Amino acid sequence: VNVGGQALRYQAALGFWQFSDAASASGVPVTVVSAFRSYATQASLYNSYVAMYGQERADTISARPGFSEHQSGLAVDIGNPGGVCGLQECFAHTAAGQFAANRAHEFGFIVRYPAGMSYWTGYAYEPWHLRYVGKDVAMDMHRRGIATLEQYYGYSPAPGY
Ligand code: DAL
Ligand code: ZN
Repeated sequence: VNVGGQALRYQAALGFWQFSDAASASGVPVTVVSAFRSYATQASLYNSYVAMYGQERADTISARPGFSEHQSGLAVDIGNPGGVCGLQECFAHTAAGQFAANRAHEFGFIVRYPAGMSYWTGYAYEPWHLRYVGKDVAMDMHRRGIATLEQYYGYSPAPGY
């Protein structure tokens, strides 16, 4: 389903529209920076990070092709109109970043790679990356104070490739 020029799976799109409508109603416009990615798109993204930073660092900021949530159509990177702090840690302190941190769970999303959780997730903090898990799971994680899907489902921390 087309969401802001990008694709998401139907249920994630419904959740995202509710999220962005609520954000707009609070005076916080939210943009879609990246949603569904094909294997080929993820491969070229990952390879560009490897070229820039080397594989070890690239593996902390980008999933290898075949392993990204973006390939599932259930993940969306959000931004602020104008692009302030786009895909940067400072996004957390912007209006859209704050709205996501405080309210995403109400719409079935989690901030999938939280601050200080690299041990569990395998990835650096991404305050812009929302993963649709459905309202039941998102609300339950919030209520129980469980930050990562790995901990919620009892998975091993940050499995390798
Ligand atoms: N940046 C996230 C981890 C991805 O590439 O899916
Ligand atoms: Zn992402």
